[in-house]
Amino acid sequence: MGVMGRVARKSDRNEAGELDMTTYNDYLQEAVIAARIAGRYQKYRFASSLTIEMKGDKNLVTEVDKESERLIVEHLLSRFPGHDIVAEEGDYPQGGSPCRWIIDPVDGTTNYAHGYPWFCSSIGLELEGELVAGVIYNPVYDELFTATKGGGAYLNGSHLSVSARAPLKHSLLGTGFPYDCATDPANNFTNFIAFQKMARGIRRAGAAALDLAYVAAGRLDGYWELKLKAWDVAAGVLMVREAGGVVTTFDGSTYDIFNDRIVASNGMIHDEMVTMLASVASGGSAAQNQALAARTSEGYVNS
Ligand code: IPD
Ligand code: CA
Ligand code: CA
Repeated sequence: MGVMGRVARKSDRNEAGELDMTTYNDYLQEAVIAARIAGRYQKYRFASSLTIEMKGDKNLVTEVDKESERLIVEHLLSRFPGHDIVAEEGDYPQGGSPCRWIIDPVDGTTNYAHGYPWFCSSIGLELEGELVAGVIYNPVYDELFTATKGGGAYLNGSHLSVSARAPLKHSLLGTGFPYDCATDPANNFTNFIAFQKMARGIRRAGAAALDLAYVAAGRLDGYWELKLKAWDVAAGVLMVREAGGVVTTFDGSTYDIFNDRIVASNGMIHDEMVTMLASVASGGSAAQNQALAARTSEGYVNS
């Protein structure tokens, strides 16, 4: 009997106590179907007139966010009725399943609402609190990023590896800014200035999940952001790790998806990024920040 239609049980585990790869892939394939269903709908509705509500001063939600979430959740629960769901636009009962899907139906909502074609769906799966599968789908480019724990990361079926670019001054970085950046001093502005001076360039593309997928694909060498939610990062964190990259908090310690400070990189520039963030936080001058960051080059453990 396969895993479809029931929750994972201890009997799905191998002798090492892990779910085997086939099982992770079974979950992944259903997430891929759900992401493609949502992506088709997002493309169909793109640049059409939309009902838009405000969740905050700058934070939008469109009818496409809500309908995408409905489509994804409907598909996953039709296959795995006992699984738990955490998703951006809805509240779902938590039944205590070992399997929990963490979903951002449209990451890049501001882009989507403005007709700027840069957005995706992000679907991650936690098994007993551990990320085991992730899908990020950009329907405009038809780029499907996937990962399973221990099984690697892929773009449209081709294996992904992070870049080998270092040091930081030769790197292209990604970041973003929280919706409340006009009112909360934790706004990422000083970090942005410090990294912009040091690195080759920074992109603020507007979809955190795609930023992480791009680190996994070696298109960005590093990424940092603050005040993200679990649904922004669940799939992308697994993807970066499975592509050989490193994900930590700002201080270099172990990251989990409920931490609101994230640094993801190819590993080679990780120390420089963490040192830069620490230096900015301690109020260092731009020159001091750069000098400090440039002096660090040790590797991080991929955890
Ligand atoms: C946002 C995007 C953006 C990031 C924001 C997120 P949303 O998610 O990922 O890049 O900077 O902090 O909240 O609202 O488009 O799903
Ligand atoms: Ca998001
Ligand atoms: Ca969203």
